[in-house]
Amino acid sequence: MMKLSNMQKKLSKNETYVPAEDTFFLAEYLKNESGEKALDIGTGSGYLAKMLSLKFNLVLATDIDFFSIKKAHSLIENCICCDGASAITGKFDLIVCNLPYLPSHSIKDISVDGGKEGIVVPVNIIKTTKNLLKPNGKFLFLTSSLANCQMLVEKTKTLGFEAKIVSSKKLFFEKLIIIEAKNKSKMN
Ligand SMILES: C[S@@+](CC[C@H](N)C(=O)[O-])C[C@H]1O[C@@H](n2cnc3c(N)ncnc32)[C@H](O)[C@@H]1O
Repeated sequence: MMKLSNMQKKLSKNETYVPAEDTFFLAEYLKNESGEKALDIGTGSGYLAKMLSLKFNLVLATDIDFFSIKKAHSLIENCICCDGASAITGKFDLIVCNLPYLPSHSIKDISVDGGKEGIVVPVNIIKTTKNLLKPNGKFLFLTSSLANCQMLVEKTKTLGFEAKIVSSKKLFFEKLIIIEAKNKSKMN
């Protein structure tokens, strides 16, 4: 059996995020996407990665939680346990991420806690995707009105992307928001 590092043990929570309203909203938005290579960051159960595998030739899925990655591996062949996309190289047509976006003082539940204003973890994840998009590729990530999503758009721009809100859905106590990021320079 594979041994877990201390950091992996700390992060491993022995339960995987169950696909929820946010997962299904992003899935619905993704249903017309197709291409050669896609990457699902923070794959959880592997639900989005599995869906993308029907439309893309190659799908990679990452999660920082080893337990989730083990579970997702029953649906998806290419699963990698890492922080964001830090272990990934190559160029993707599409990158997706249903981010942990809840504002939190500390990171107790890695599935949902996003740190201060719900953007600290998201920004760190987005940083790891620099240089991973094909020239016309796009990165679609999900956040919420509970987080400072305008600041997230601005921070994404400072990381070298063009970024804008492309869809939203009002729920009872929050608005789910999808942000699209593209390469600023098409020369990548
Ligand atoms: C909101 S859940 C989404 C799960 C799944 N993609 C879905 O839509 O149902 C966020 C996922 O991101 C993972 N995660 C949190 N921080 C991460 C990081 N820094 N790098 C990779 N994955 C991370 C969590 O373990 C969790 O599985």
